[in-house]
Amino acid sequence: MHNEKILIIGASGQIGVELTLALRNRYGSANVVAADLRDQNSLLEGTGPYVSLDVMNKDRLRDLVAQHEITQIYLLAAMLSATGERNPAMAWDLNMQGLLNVLDIAREEKLNKVFWPSSIAVFGPSSPRINCPQQTIIEPTTIYGISKYAGEFWCRYYWQRYGVDVRSIRYPGLISYKSAPGGGTTDYAVEIYHEALSKQSYTCFLREDTYLPMLYMPDAIRATIELMEAPADRIAVRTSYNIAALSFSPAEVAASIQRKIPSFTLSCQPDYRQVIADSWPQSIDDSVARHDWGWTPQYNLDAMTDDMLQHLG
Ligand code: NAD
Ligand code: SER
Repeated sequence: MHNEKILIIGASGQIGVELTLALRNRYGSANVVAADLRDQNSLLEGTGPYVSLDVMNKDRLRDLVAQHEITQIYLLAAMLSATGERNPAMAWDLNMQGLLNVLDIAREEKLNKVFWPSSIAVFGPSSPRINCPQQTIIEPTTIYGISKYAGEFWCRYYWQRYGVDVRSIRYPGLISYKSAPGGGTTDYAVEIYHEALSKQSYTCFLREDTYLPMLYMPDAIRATIELMEAPADRIAVRTSYNIAALSFSPAEVAASIQRKIPSFTLSCQPDYRQVIADSWPQSIDDSVARHDWGWTPQYNLDAMTDDMLQHLG
């Protein structure tokens, strides 16, 4: 483990910032190279090496891998569900070509491992809405979901055909206080905490009874590292693992906030993101991840609310 050199692509994003900090803690600052199209997030400044990279530029990616003697890549650069519906062609290009560039280079340079996240967005209206299983009918209706589902099969293909050890999680909506979310349908569950503190009110872009699967960032980071460090023979799913922790609606997160801020009020003005949310399951069955590599969440809704308000307050 300590001989690894890690490249994180999309390190300035919502997950990237926290994953970079966690991996630097674990593997040593100099062994984790952060890369992004945009400037370094201020939380990363002074914590380790940072390089500018467009993942679409395969030659530059290959040069970086060679120059830094990279052994693992975490690919986090993608266009998320809401932004993707506004720019379908761009979302497809980035989400597919970025992944193919990384998979090709992992194969050519014989990297030890690749992490690439999929999403609950692979599921569509024909999938079971409650406790959606690992294997089921999967007919995504967003370009983001289509790109994630295709990506899952590219990952499995590179594993089966070329032995590239790619591992993946279908993240639910991620909630965090360190870095801002980047254009997803679940972003309301971050915004609501910021506005509860700054304005004591929030207008949600989803209906108040819209249940979606969610995960607090500390659990997401732990899941990612646990999956990546699990012995290869425990990883039976080479597309992407369902994982679950929370399932709540805007009304429920508002009630959780009102325990601490009684004057907080929620109103709802659903927009185009309601259609996306309505196409996804309300909750996820993660029994396969629990069985294969021991996944267990730690935060429930109130514990997450308390932690979010404490850190943002
Ligand atoms: P984000 O939008 O916050 O961050 C993505 C980062 O990638 C940004 O910093 C962006 O500048 C960078 N980027 C974009 N294009 C790039 C390019 N061409 N080259 C290099 N960098 C580029 O996204 P996130 O929420 O951190 O998501 C990371 C991954 O996790 C994505 O694959 C996303 O689909 C997946 N995911 C996220 C969530 C969530 O709730 N955040 C849920 C499910 C899956
Ligand atoms: N949180 C993500 C989104 O809403 C799910 O992948 O796009």
